[in-house]
Amino acid sequence: MFSHWNFILLFAQLTTTLAFPKVQKINERPIIGILAQEVTDKVFFPFGKTYIADSYVHFLESAGCRVAPIRLNLNEDEYVKIFKSINGVLFPGGAADLLTSDFARTAKIFYKLAIEATSSGNYFPVWGTCMGFQILTALTSGEDLLSATSADNISLPLQLINDISSSKMFQSASPELLQALSHENITANFHHFGITPETFLANEKLSNFYRILSTNRDKKGVEFVSTMEARNFPIYGVQWHPEVNRFQWHRDLAYPHSENAIWISQYMANFIISEARKNLNHFANEQEEEKSLIYNYVAKYTANISGYEQAYFF
Ligand SMILES: *[C@@H]1O[C@H](CO)[C@@H](O)[C@H](O)[C@H]1NC(C)=O
Ligand SMILES: *[C@@H]1O[C@H](CO)[C@@H](O)[C@H](O)[C@H]1NC(C)=O
Ligand SMILES: *[C@@H]1O[C@H](CO)[C@@H](O)[C@H](O)[C@H]1NC(C)=O
Repeated sequence: MFSHWNFILLFAQLTTTLAFPKVQKINERPIIGILAQEVTDKVFFPFGKTYIADSYVHFLESAGCRVAPIRLNLNEDEYVKIFKSINGVLFPGGAADLLTSDFARTAKIFYKLAIEATSSGNYFPVWGTCMGFQILTALTSGEDLLSATSADNISLPLQLINDISSSKMFQSASPELLQALSHENITANFHHFGITPETFLANEKLSNFYRILSTNRDKKGVEFVSTMEARNFPIYGVQWHPEVNRFQWHRDLAYPHSENAIWISQYMANFIISEARKNLNHFANEQEEEKSLIYNYVAKYTANISGYEQAYFF
């Protein structure tokens, strides 16, 4: 029978649900996948066919996570298994073809899975840096919309949109940090291509999906989109390199190392991991988890032949 006690209990449950509609579980042991890419620079040829630079690994780890390398040339089932075990994915900078490389093929698989997961309630963050940013524009629009940009080895302040505090990415940034970000040369650019705001906004697929958060001008005054976030998905892209501020030290390259440069780098990493903590995917068991981690690989010293201090080769 439906006694009045049942009724009171039901009522109590209802009010609890209404008062706290989103009691969200937090993942305090997030694991982020970093996508490997083809070796294209001949100085790396002797060491392997694909690689991940150590700076991306340290960058993510610094915010409290572990990293799982995502190697190229696995089959789709293997990628699905990895996807269901990790809490976010990072597409790094580098030099792979946006449409035809194995890097592009694999990024597409993870992008598609991420869209499906978030659409069905399993919040799955995707982060793209530099080439990773560029490939996000290609994945969302279905085409390569980049044009020549003269922004190699230059550090710039971001030209942030006016209501930057309404963005997901920067809503937790202090006024001091935003002031530094928009006035000091603390975002490092190393790219020969970019997407102009005109091209971006003219493409409906892109402009409906992402919001531009900042732009910059290259050495010749050409404007490019430097930061974006998806409107309805945890998908983010930066054309600049937050990881180099703390984890790359080549003397001939314009890596910003000021105190504010360090803060912004840490802020970006913290943001990515705060998103990953909202995802509860996990490996089937501890052994599977341990086997997947970057700690199983030994980084090679590369500071005397590249801008990276070390790199993992596969
Ligand atoms: C920032 O970099 C630009 C371009 O290299 C340069 O013109 C400017 O003087 C720099 N600003 C500061 C505050 O260092
Ligand atoms: C990169 O930029 C820095 C600072 O502007 C400059 O000192 C250095 O020579 C540049 N390196 C290259 C390889 O162009
Ligand atoms: C770079 O450093 C490694 C490790 O010390 C050394 O074996 C290698 O010969 C060096 N390469 C060059 C080009 O100097």
